[in-house]
Amino acid sequence: MVTASKAHPKRYMRPPPQFVHDWFSPLRSSDVVPGKITNFSFMGHDLIAFRDEAGKAVVLDATCPHFGAHRGVGGRVVDGCVRCPFHGLHFDGTGQCVKGDFVKEARHLRHVKSTPWTVHEVASSIFIWHGPDRTRPDRPLRFAEPGFFDGWSEPVTNAGRRLAPTNVFFPTENIIDIQHFYAVHFWELRGIERQPAEDEDGAFTAIMHMTWTAGAQSPNPLLRKLGQMYSSPFHFDIRILGPGMAISVSTLTPEQGNLQLMNIILITPVNATDCQIRVVSSVRRTVDHPLNRLARRVLGVGLEDALSRVFLAIATKDFDGDEMIWTNRRFLQNPKPLPDDGPIIGYRKWCERFWPPDYMPDDDVVSASMPAPSLESSVLDPVAE
Ligand code: FES
Ligand SMILES: [Fe+2]
Repeated sequence: MVTASKAHPKRYMRPPPQFVHDWFSPLRSSDVVPGKITNFSFMGHDLIAFRDEAGKAVVLDATCPHFGAHRGVGGRVVDGCVRCPFHGLHFDGTGQCVKGDFVKEARHLRHVKSTPWTVHEVASSIFIWHGPDRTRPDRPLRFAEPGFFDGWSEPVTNAGRRLAPTNVFFPTENIIDIQHFYAVHFWELRGIERQPAEDEDGAFTAIMHMTWTAGAQSPNPLLRKLGQMYSSPFHFDIRILGPGMAISVSTLTPEQGNLQLMNIILITPVNATDCQIRVVSSVRRTVDHPLNRLARRVLGVGLEDALSRVFLAIATKDFDGDEMIWTNRRFLQNPKPLPDDGPIIGYRKWCERFWPPDYMPDDDVVSASMPAPSLESSVLDPVAE
């Protein structure tokens, strides 16, 4: 939970905003069914999603620009348009009102329009740009680049879980919070190949060597004991693209077939207090067994498609311990970092680029005499000066 108090002189050390600027994925593709309206909340807005005649996902404000009815309550999809229940006006995929039940001249409707949100549908997910101008994203969505999933199984996802309450930055910060991997997940850190830091593409990245043990988080002592018989070393390559988006690629050992698993972790602010977290999983198509080739030819799916669902379930379950922390945590403006924590202060500084420019601007500082982050953090973290 983020608490308001006197602002820290360093902007990036102040309580971070919830409604940040970037791409987010509040919906799965399967949440938007042709012919139906989906109501949802995103960044404190009440929105509707539907599919136009071509099947393209469209996101509009729920509020009708005519006289303010909620178009998702009592409204319906007619010929790829949303029909508002109040006066029967129809809105197309561009948000333009194109006809009304009793409107004789279409030219009278020209000014009745609601600006659509910018949407990309990829990886079984619907992404929405949230920024100063909803029609003009400041940066591209990496997953939408052609060929991004070449060589990988069809990405799969599930409903995820609600984090109530949590700040949007808490989950991604965990990825570079090195000590938490053992304390929360019982993942053993065997080495760090690339220290967490900003890379040449502007992402915050790290490469670590970990060992995962089955059932280590289980409350059942018998399952924990049995789980010790199965542990798996893996190579963990992580890229945080934004507050609500991170990609991890885990590579298993040659004994485990050098399997490569991609998890895309998506965090979306629902409202001022809550977020949604969801994972998208995919497995690299490397299993070159005749049976797998046959399954792909006959069934259209291979072993990798089945494995991606298993890994998705494991990844989703792995948030059990995190959820308890995230939903009960307070944001400290003046934390007390330790040498092995990871560059958490540097990460906070990196995150500031996603803040709305008018959120806690520098001239808003209440007390410039507040202590800086503890001395240790300045020593350990080169950007925390
Ligand atoms: S309020 Fe929607 S048609 Fe009038
Ligand atoms: Fe975690």
